[in-house]
Amino acid sequence: MKAPAFAFAGLGSYVPSRVLTNADFEKMLDTSDTWIRERTGIRERHIAGDGDTTSGMGKEASLRALAEAGLPPTELDLIVAATATPDRLLPSTACDIQALIGAKNAVAFDVGAACPGWIYGLVVAESMLAAGQARRALVIGTERLSAITDYTDRSTAVLFGDAAGAVVLAAGDGRRGILSSYLKSDGTLAELLHRPGGGAVHPPSEELLKDHSYYLKMAGREVFKAAVRSMGDAAQRALEKAGLAGDAVDLLVPHQANIRIIEATASHVNIPMDRVFVNVDRYGNTSSASIPLALDEARTSGRLQPGMVVLLVTFGAGFTWGAVVLRW
Ligand code: ACO
Repeated sequence: MKAPAFAFAGLGSYVPSRVLTNADFEKMLDTSDTWIRERTGIRERHIAGDGDTTSGMGKEASLRALAEAGLPPTELDLIVAATATPDRLLPSTACDIQALIGAKNAVAFDVGAACPGWIYGLVVAESMLAAGQARRALVIGTERLSAITDYTDRSTAVLFGDAAGAVVLAAGDGRRGILSSYLKSDGTLAELLHRPGGGAVHPPSEELLKDHSYYLKMAGREVFKAAVRSMGDAAQRALEKAGLAGDAVDLLVPHQANIRIIEATASHVNIPMDRVFVNVDRYGNTSSASIPLALDEARTSGRLQPGMVVLLVTFGAGFTWGAVVLRW
């Protein structure tokens, strides 16, 4: 196992206050609390209010992570943001957050990798730190998925929520930090989970709103099967790269999309559910914010303790997937 060169100096998250429960969906759609809970594990999700922009939520999570790291924003030299729901298409969300927090000495850019975006960003930031391109990085996952969710489509509407999470990555003590990572993509399966309209091929028009192609579309059953297969494989490979087996993992913090995917992933690497952190019941799928939000909650609730071996694993549109092993 390699000595971890970079560690988490600070962690923060932000969740909007407005809550949409399964009972609320029963009034809007042909669905039921029982169906949603049994098929997904979700009970409620938080939805952005007017003031909760993607960059604004990212700013709040970032300031909390920076405060814990004891680092003024001007000390950052790298900002990587992940989002599938930018406030605007130009400039990047990372640049917007850079301006909001006053991190004037940083280089800032986005990574596009849907739900795994924060994990991709973490690995990119770690690689740039290792190459000497930066010394202190901020990696953010921030999502306002409610903006691209079709609330007339029961197969997707109930799944998603809004949130942000951020971490400060810096040189550590050589004991705590990232032990291994594994990333993978398969662009041939893109049509199973995508937003057909709103890009340069189908630019914004009244038609996009009428035919709902502006919104996220998902072939749920196919995505489910691919997620189970890919997350299990990524978890296995990242553990092998770290020279560890599932029994060495103190806490699995998976992407929170569906409790059944989480259970299948844990079972694949022989991790019992009492060593898995789950908050999908309260937030639904918050895409790139999901894992940093879960890490922050795991810590606040006392489940995540210094020195623990933690496995992160994720899957999303692209398809993209990956896993990280770290010592907290
Ligand atoms: N309420 C009631 N019934 C519903 C609902 C709902 N909200 N949604 C779908 N159904 C119905 C379907 O119409 C279907 O009915 P039919 O049999 O009469 O046709 C039936 O339930 C079963 O539908 P499936 O899609 O097969 O249900 P499944 O058990 O696969 O669960 C789900 C659907 C929850 C979407 C699941 O497939 C899933 O979690 N997929 C993966 C999602 C995911 O992990 N995404 C990750 C990436 S997201 C990102 O990157 C942004």
